[in-house]
Amino acid sequence: MIKVLFVCLGNICRSPTAEGVFHAKLASAGLTHVVSVDSCGTGHWHVGKPPDERACNEAMMRGLSIDTLRARQLEDSDLMTFDYILAMDQDNLDVLMSRRPADCQAHIGLLLDFAETPAVREVPDPYYGGREGFAYAYELIESASDGLIAHLRTRHEV
Ligand code: 4NP
Repeated sequence: MIKVLFVCLGNICRSPTAEGVFHAKLASAGLTHVVSVDSCGTGHWHVGKPPDERACNEAMMRGLSIDTLRARQLEDSDLMTFDYILAMDQDNLDVLMSRRPADCQAHIGLLLDFAETPAVREVPDPYYGGREGFAYAYELIESASDGLIAHLRTRHEV
């Protein structure tokens, strides 16, 4: 199993959206038996909570339900368990790199490095903004998810 983990700050806006979008794309591609997906936050504030209502609404408008997901915080063991650990922005990538054990084998990087719009490298935090921020985040995540699936197909021949 190739294990993918998406990481943001609160695990209630961007990374649960990425988990839901990517899981749906894996299902469409017939890859759920070879690739698994999870998400977490570097912060602790929202542990146990469902995704933000605005993230749920954005997903629902596009035919995706993410409201059964629950926030959890990044654990040290994640850095040894997952194969791809993909941060939504540079701050969260910095946290991952600072907690990375010397013998870590995972690919740790930015989700948008797999996107078709390489000019944008970070998914902006939509938490303090309006609905447009959630729509923009969703579109960036969707584009990168397609690129990530293409990468996994080529790199791992799945
Ligand atoms: P996320 O968004 O990292 O995409 O889940 C945020 C959620 C909550 C907070 C910040 C960002 N917060 O400060 O509580």
